[in-house]
Amino acid sequence: MRWVLLGALALVTLVGGQETCLSGEEDPYFLFGTKTAYTFSNRGIPTDRHHEVLGCQPAAIWLLSRHGSHNPEADEIPNLQKLVDFKNNIISNYRNGNFRNTNQRICTSDLNLLERWEWNSRLNATFAGDLTSDGYISTQQLAQAWKQRYPGLMTENKYDFLFKYVNDRRSETSYRAFTEGLFREQAETYDVRKENDENKLRPYKFCPAWQKDVEENNDTLGQVRTFESKQEYKEMITNISLRLGFNYDINKEMVENMYDMCRYNKAWNIAQISPWCAVFTKEDLKRLEYAEDLETYYKYGYGNPMNQKVSCAGVKDMMDFFKIHVDNATPQQPKAQIHLTEAPTLLLTLAALNARRDSAPLTGDNYHTNFVQNRKWANSAMAPFNGNLAAILYKCTPNGNFQVKEEHQVLFLENERPLYLEGCRVGLCDWSYVKQRMGVVADNCNMEFCNSATKINGLLSLSVVLVVFSRFLL
Ligand SMILES: *[C@@H]1O[C@H](CO)[C@@H](O)[C@H](O)[C@H]1NC(C)=O
Ligand SMILES: *[C@@H]1O[C@H](CO)[C@@H](O)[C@H](O)[C@H]1NC(C)=O
Ligand SMILES: *[C@@H]1O[C@H](CO)[C@@H](O)[C@H](O)[C@H]1NC(C)=O
Repeated sequence: MRWVLLGALALVTLVGGQETCLSGEEDPYFLFGTKTAYTFSNRGIPTDRHHEVLGCQPAAIWLLSRHGSHNPEADEIPNLQKLVDFKNNIISNYRNGNFRNTNQRICTSDLNLLERWEWNSRLNATFAGDLTSDGYISTQQLAQAWKQRYPGLMTENKYDFLFKYVNDRRSETSYRAFTEGLFREQAETYDVRKENDENKLRPYKFCPAWQKDVEENNDTLGQVRTFESKQEYKEMITNISLRLGFNYDINKEMVENMYDMCRYNKAWNIAQISPWCAVFTKEDLKRLEYAEDLETYYKYGYGNPMNQKVSCAGVKDMMDFFKIHVDNATPQQPKAQIHLTEAPTLLLTLAALNARRDSAPLTGDNYHTNFVQNRKWANSAMAPFNGNLAAILYKCTPNGNFQVKEEHQVLFLENERPLYLEGCRVGLCDWSYVKQRMGVVADNCNMEFCNSATKINGLLSLSVVLVVFSRFLL
């Protein structure tokens, strides 16, 4: 039956000649930035065995884990709902043979897919932002995977754990999913230690200087706007408009709505074809992915120096935790410190670790360069749904491994694969190196700058320079 149907589709494509069936793409592109399903994120890079460090035993794990896939947020719902009317427009364009360019038109089977799409009325304000059942299950599975890999750290003893997450519904649900993955039926009876202080967990939200300089600063999106003004972006909009039978270029917000629906669909059900994904070519999807990378690069990454100042809290938390384990000869509790968190914290923390740093800044006009095409700063790889960053402290026996010289080692994993860090070996770092490099970040972690206005800051540094200068003169 399936083959007959496929055969019929192929025939339609042949006879139609000019029709492009994007839903039938043989090697579809599923890297959708911060809305990428975990399984697509690092496909092809095996997870197994990296955690085994010859001659060493794991002593503690620090984990930063982003929530799984969720329903649209309250502020996204009205935009996504616009697709209901928009879909009807596409269908009438098709019926009216409304194509400027018959070489670029949506194929019949893609249109039929779209025709069957309906807005799910459950996606309303009541359930906005909630973890989906898929997001719940993938969180449980991730917890189980960690437990399987580190049974000596993720034990049945509740005192071995400390959980950190803010008091909101999605984090609560993530906590339930995670602990069910760890403790199964007993999860509910386990009263695990928790910390919920949002001031400590999301310092960027309470930092006026950062908000003014980055979050609310119009320039933060400057490079995204440059990219959107470029030929390669405008041409994408024209092509999409042609494909959908519009006599004019549709606005970019509608393109973004379709993109969001596509990537939500694919995260909620990875096996199902989304009619909204079939609107885009692989080249379109790569451009939309880059636009979001540009946004986070300036909002949370290396694009603004203030991001590395506001992002130190995670590194400090990790260092404080590991120091307890390194400084004490006997095993300490908790052994596992687990943060259930969101994309900004994950991205900021990666930036604080100086991970995934490109050799030059990402900008709106270097899309076609080699380095952007192979960029390290990529949301799809860094912050997919369930994206995570783990640091595992190992205690090694002398001469247990000729490659490991120091007693303590730290293994950094990103989405369960080694995280490349300068000065380390495939994610494995000497403790002295971690203590030096990340210790500096932790020791200088000071949020005082948050409450001083940028102007005063500038004056202050000027006066410091003057003082230093005058001292030299003396
Ligand atoms: C959302 O949908 C559910 C189930 O269909 C319904 O019970 C609830 O009242 C709706 N909420 C809003 C705000 O419309
Ligand atoms: C931000 O910049 C854009 C483009 O330069 C401009 O159209 C918009 O008015 C600016 N917004 C604010 C709040 O300054
Ligand atoms: C737009 O379509 C034309 C014609 O098919 C193609 O040559 C071009 O590469 C497309 N541009 C983008 C940005 O996809």
